[in-house]
Amino acid sequence: MGMNSQDFQRAAGALAAALTEYRQQLAARQLPVQSRVSPGEIAAALPRSAPERPESFEAVLEDIRRIVLPGLTHWQHPRFFGYFPTGGDLSSVLADMLSTGLGIVGLNWQASPALTEIETVMVRWLRDLLGLSATWHGSIQDYASTATLLALLSARERSTDYSAHRGGLQSVPAPLIVYTTAEAHSSVLKAAALAGFGRDNVRIVPVDGSFAMDVEQLAALIRTDQRAGRVPCAVVCTVGTTSTTAIDPVAQIAAVAGQHKLWVHVDGAMGGSAMLLPEMRHLWTGIENADSIVVNPHKWMGIASDCSLYYVRDPQHLVRVMSTNPSYLKTAVDAQVINYRDWGIPLGRRFRALKIWFMLRLNGAEQLRAKIRSDCAEAAWLAAQVRGAPHWRLVTPVSLQTVCLRHEPPGLAGDALDAHTLSWSRAVNESGLAYVTPSVCAGRWMVRVSIGAQASEHSDLEFLWQCLQRHAEAQ
Ligand SMILES: Cc1ncc(COP(=O)(O)O)c(C=O)c1O
Repeated sequence: MGMNSQDFQRAAGALAAALTEYRQQLAARQLPVQSRVSPGEIAAALPRSAPERPESFEAVLEDIRRIVLPGLTHWQHPRFFGYFPTGGDLSSVLADMLSTGLGIVGLNWQASPALTEIETVMVRWLRDLLGLSATWHGSIQDYASTATLLALLSARERSTDYSAHRGGLQSVPAPLIVYTTAEAHSSVLKAAALAGFGRDNVRIVPVDGSFAMDVEQLAALIRTDQRAGRVPCAVVCTVGTTSTTAIDPVAQIAAVAGQHKLWVHVDGAMGGSAMLLPEMRHLWTGIENADSIVVNPHKWMGIASDCSLYYVRDPQHLVRVMSTNPSYLKTAVDAQVINYRDWGIPLGRRFRALKIWFMLRLNGAEQLRAKIRSDCAEAAWLAAQVRGAPHWRLVTPVSLQTVCLRHEPPGLAGDALDAHTLSWSRAVNESGLAYVTPSVCAGRWMVRVSIGAQASEHSDLEFLWQCLQRHAEAQ
């Protein structure tokens, strides 16, 4: 059973041609950005049961065109300004195919030496490109949510002198506390729950006017918990929050955390990529005093999902927390090599490092920096248009590539303004002409324009701005 090599070669050529045609359709701005299918429509288009006999690859490809493509909201469309930019660079698409095609699993160094060593070099290349010092040690995880879970597991174990090797959290006399803000990604609360802290032991630190963590409030909450006999354990701060790309002040947070020996995890899933630019690094001043960092190359760096970097200052601690080391995985070279299974949750490992390698080799770091710089400049351009237009308001300062805006016609406020915002943003998305994301900020709906789709040009942003004005002013 299985596809033979000749059929594979033919099918791979046809698939590459179909993918190229798809990207060309996107570039021609022919497809509606938001999928027009209704819930259940795609499932209903598939047969009720699996085929008993082989079908041709052409038939499969035909269904990709007929069923799958219309069922996609096109993240690589030049007029996609929703959620966040996600990596679609074709160099990393090739690497993903190679990674899967090699058909290997990185259980340990011996099982795939090149997988391990190329990962080590790639996380080092990116560490250097991000301006981080050589004291950081990285690994590639699937998603930032996993990295943040690793951070909170590591924090828990440091605070409890490795309680997992004894009775676990159930044997700890006082509750451990995690601090973050309401602007942090939902993965922080999920990680705190999964790591056993419990929702009652997560403190939501108030934010300032720019939605960044208020460090005095953090210090006050820590003192209150200490006085009550609880154990402050970790603070998760964000460089580029999900909704508004707010920047928590890492240096001040790390200073407060340092006084009380809290673990500092920096969620740079989105904003971390901006640190490729030396002129942006002031946004995470103090990063060298953190304990762990996550940066997602599968967001703004253009690398195909999934590829998330998790850096730690003390890899031995991470290994002590994550290692299980069953006998069948022990090898003679263990003392000389890295076994990444001990740096994360899964035992198996994909060759994700190829995606970074291909992307950097086929584009070069210079192009990557130029793209990030240009996206920030485009965001500044849109912000200037919004500032200059009557009845439009910038809801938050623009720190990276996301512009948060609202149309505020005279006489509309409160729930009526919310209804207006939701109505015009839905109209934009349903038009298929462009795609944006409504989101709540300080209790009111606003619209996020997230710039950075690889194929976007300045004319697309001009088009979007016209489109937003037309739809909002027509409501
Ligand atoms: C700031 C931030 N952190 C974490 C995440 C979660 O990333 P992932 O999907 O890689 O788990 C996101 C995703 O939008 C994010 O914006």
